[in-house]
Amino acid sequence: MKSNRVLMTIFALLVIVSMALTACSGAAQSSGKIKVGLSFSDFATERWKNEEVLMRKLLEDKGYEVISAEANHDVKLQNDQIDNMVSQGIKGLIVIAEDGDAVVTSVDKAADAGVKVIAYDRLIKTAKIAAYLSFDNVEVGRQQALGVMKAIDADNWDVAANGPARVVQLAGSPTDNNATLFTKGQTEVLQPYIDSGKIEIVAKQGVENWDAANALKLMENILTAQNNDIDAVVASNDGTALGALQAMKAQGLAGTVPISGQDATADGSNSIVKGELTVSILKDIRNLSPLAIDVMDKLLKGEAVEGMKNFTLAELTVDDSKQGEVPCVFLQVQQVNKENVYDLVVVSGFQSYDDVYRDIPEGDRPAKP
Ligand code: GAL
Repeated sequence: MKSNRVLMTIFALLVIVSMALTACSGAAQSSGKIKVGLSFSDFATERWKNEEVLMRKLLEDKGYEVISAEANHDVKLQNDQIDNMVSQGIKGLIVIAEDGDAVVTSVDKAADAGVKVIAYDRLIKTAKIAAYLSFDNVEVGRQQALGVMKAIDADNWDVAANGPARVVQLAGSPTDNNATLFTKGQTEVLQPYIDSGKIEIVAKQGVENWDAANALKLMENILTAQNNDIDAVVASNDGTALGALQAMKAQGLAGTVPISGQDATADGSNSIVKGELTVSILKDIRNLSPLAIDVMDKLLKGEAVEGMKNFTLAELTVDDSKQGEVPCVFLQVQQVNKENVYDLVVVSGFQSYDDVYRDIPEGDRPAKP
């Protein structure tokens, strides 16, 4: 009798526990929402964290569940993180690639599993992506070089008196396809000056990981090798330009030798108003992130996406051996300099007034917009 009651109690308990477990796993399994993954190369560059916050919010507002990961510049980790998101059942994936070649391993697998993949800002070198959304990256490079050439008045450079202007070219990270495109745009502008003997490229190097500390070291070495005799620097983003500027500052060259950047970051814009960084490039992420979410939403709903144009991978990579085409959108970019930084960056709300005018005495600041 007694053992019967014990058995029944145990049975009843088991039923309750198993019911509770089913309820729990049901809740953990899914919120019923479609999952979208965000995969970031790193958060060391200022813009990426801002874009994570923006895209997460836009996706959540549309009812998606967001899974996000940051790979700290580690290509293997980025592939693992993407594989992991696919096993968690994502239907869409937005990737900021650390390495446009290496990430193809996980992106192809994701695409084969039916995941819609968007290459965000940086190209992923496979025709399996559903879209590549970015800015006009060749134009970024042109504007960087144009800003610096204007600052040294290259057209009127007196070669007879000074010899050719001595230009340093700091490219971006060698694993980032954008770096290739920035260099392409820079070269388009610089080549005619090289050909006419107005300028000479005295050093040309890529900055691994877009890392400011790497740029600082590279510039220290370049200045030593050139006896500080340089006239201009075409650098490829604000972070690396500010690193290079530290080395230049130590030699009294900051503010006298023009240098370019990119991204109109808070620190870069501050350096522009201080007269050290000569130009930056505004790429308004407030347009790119919503575009990416809108395209993703349409892809996931099976709706037509308007406004995309196919480009060959050969053209996008500047490498004729690459096969296939991908649908793309490229947004416009704008050169930022001392004259327009207030309007383009501050008044537009891209960076805050306090960040841009940090350390500038009250009396030298423009009115708060
Ligand atoms: C590029 C990007 C730039 C810059 C750089 C460093 O791919 O287009 O805007 O942020 O990476 O992360």
